[in-house]
Amino acid sequence: MGTDVCWELPTLATLIFENQDVTSPLPSEGEAAAVPRADDGNGTPRRIRVTAESMASKQREISVSEFFAKNRHLLGFDNPRKALLTTVKEAVDNALDACEEAGLLPEIWVRIEALAENRFRVSVQDNGPGIVKKQIPLIFGKLLYGSKFHRLRQSRGQQGIGISAAGMYGLLTTGRPVSIVSRTGSKRPVHFYQIQIDTKHNRPEIVNGKGEGVDIPPNDGAAEFLREHQLHWQDVDHGTLVAIELEAKYQRGRGSVDEYLEQTAIANPHVTLHYHDPEGRTHEYPRVAEVLPAEPKEIKPHPYGVELGTLITMLKDSKSGTLGRFLTESFSRISPAVAKRIAQAASLSIRTNPKRLGRAQAEALFQALQNEKVQSPAVDCLSPIGEELILRGMRQMVPGEFYTAVTRPPAVYRGNPFQVEVGLSYGGGPATYRVSKELLEELLAETDARTLRQFLTTTFDGVGPEGADKLLREARLRARMSPGRLKAREREQLFEALRRVNLSEGQTMNVLRYANRVPLLFQAGACAITQTVMSTNWRAYGLTQSRNALPSGPVTLMVHIASVWVPFTSESKEAVAGYPEIQKELRLAFQAVGRRLGMYLRRRDRVKTQGERRNIFLRYLREVADAVAVIRGVDRDEIHAHLMQVAKRVTAAADMKLDEHGNPIMEDGEEDFAGPVLIVPQEEKAVPAAAEKRPGEVQTRLFTDQ
Ligand SMILES: Nc1ncnc2c1ncn2[C@@H]1O[C@H](COP(=O)(O)OP(=O)(O)OP(=O)(O)O)[C@@H](O)[C@H]1O
Ligand SMILES: [Mg+2]
Repeated sequence: MGTDVCWELPTLATLIFENQDVTSPLPSEGEAAAVPRADDGNGTPRRIRVTAESMASKQREISVSEFFAKNRHLLGFDNPRKALLTTVKEAVDNALDACEEAGLLPEIWVRIEALAENRFRVSVQDNGPGIVKKQIPLIFGKLLYGSKFHRLRQSRGQQGIGISAAGMYGLLTTGRPVSIVSRTGSKRPVHFYQIQIDTKHNRPEIVNGKGEGVDIPPNDGAAEFLREHQLHWQDVDHGTLVAIELEAKYQRGRGSVDEYLEQTAIANPHVTLHYHDPEGRTHEYPRVAEVLPAEPKEIKPHPYGVELGTLITMLKDSKSGTLGRFLTESFSRISPAVAKRIAQAASLSIRTNPKRLGRAQAEALFQALQNEKVQSPAVDCLSPIGEELILRGMRQMVPGEFYTAVTRPPAVYRGNPFQVEVGLSYGGGPATYRVSKELLEELLAETDARTLRQFLTTTFDGVGPEGADKLLREARLRARMSPGRLKAREREQLFEALRRVNLSEGQTMNVLRYANRVPLLFQAGACAITQTVMSTNWRAYGLTQSRNALPSGPVTLMVHIASVWVPFTSESKEAVAGYPEIQKELRLAFQAVGRRLGMYLRRRDRVKTQGERRNIFLRYLREVADAVAVIRGVDRDEIHAHLMQVAKRVTAAADMKLDEHGNPIMEDGEEDFAGPVLIVPQEEKAVPAAAEKRPGEVQTRLFTDQ
């Protein structure tokens, strides 16, 4: 079905089967109205009268799936390219949540197959706990069904919409059901389901096994059986695979599946990812940490976060016999003593039955809850990445010479605990500055350079002989090879090396945003993270910045917000809302990493300027010594040695060496960075700062700003 057809397959089928008139979907007009309406263009005034009764006959309940099918942009399905990413993202986020919750180190297989020009099959498998048979249809065939909405605990998913919405989008655009394979143990059967959502009623329909699904007994060659259904099941003892066919577009670059998976690997160093892309290439992201993040605990709501209406409902639904028990059992941080004080302040007895409280009493209780001094919520519900792992993750993925990270202490917005973490890398071109594989292939084919070294120095802006050698070393290729004769594997090696090497400086700061370890790739402008980066004064830390803009400089900033409930601006979970408490924490974190960056840049510049000063002294000292020897008749070598000593002393900073933590090796009373930093000694810069490109030069920037 082409994209130009407005009726989607299942919608069309419903209309035909229900015998509605597809050609005139507008409702029929009512009786003649008393008040004439505007001219309809034919000269006759249109007269319509709608009575309360005729309106009543048109009132209908709207199912949540019908609503989101119409408003799919709210869920991140606004264009085919984004649809592909959102589908992968929902499945991968669920897989990671499930593994972590079950205490298993996650291993994920992502496979995207191109079936036709605009049609793909996305399949994602995990080694998680699997899903019990009864739950499978509801999870994948019903919107707003999930295990995470009603609890306060940090997880990637929270709404109960994600994967069923992706399945629904697949069904709407291709008419194909979602395939699910799940197993909960080595001695248990493998469940195989094909499910589609009945959009009109928001309920699942099982398509295979006569409406019952299929069970494949253990040791019965599930992988072969599933291969017949185009499913690549990794034979694991427990885990889940979900496969969705959808209309989509695959394109690399900013906001792509590739970028999302790469950024996921940075923030989740305990995950192993295998990615098979639509062009048949495989990408491996092995884990760099062998331990799971600390398990976040589930907490009860904090009294400061509750609203009056919610409190009234909670009182009504309470199963606690007394007000005292209700307060201690429903909220976090309320001890029996605090409960007593709250009840007293509201002029209530702690022995009252909470169900019997009237509206005025509930309001008095609400006020007392807000006024009582209650400890901040427990923070073991949060699981930050940690400074050490952020440094390691960034070092792995983003080239640079200076790295630092800060994890702020937990804070609270609307009663919900949250925590901000920031990692900063300076010096390398950020990961987004890359030559695409296609461009590289084309350049290699087109070049008239005879050697690879010549190709590199003449093709890329600013790559000098040292830069070329560094690239070649990294790619394990010989300098004299002919660029046109590289084998596929060698081209791949060169491409990988180019990804890691600095190709341009002078770009704007690259901000990688994360919420609960999930990369946020869209709506940067609407996100509190970007807005706070822009309103922070980075000039104080040695970067250039125009007012209310992202600073310039070879800087990558990774920002992570962890919370039991991330306040997203929409259901598609792309941007974080700007609560003042969150903005404050962001600003403090930016200032902490900014101060360390400023300190590093000042030290580095001091070494450089003093080095230059010393070079000038050294150049002229010999002549000065000669002249003084002639005029004063003293020994030339002696005076030269003396002058040398003075020159070295006054330019002593040129000798300052920084250890890998950025502290001077020479004791000179410098202040400390006061936090973890990592300094990677740089060889002579391969690529000088080159913000502007001359016309006709090769554009090496693949990702452009949105
Ligand atoms: N791979 C999986 N393994 C085990 N359980 C899963 C898996 N995928 C989904 N689930 C279960 O299905 C539920 C629904 O998933 P869904 O993605 O629709 O919602 P969610 O993850 O709770 O929230 P969100 O809409 O924010 O993603 C999850 O809460 C989880 O309990
Ligand atoms: Mg989910």
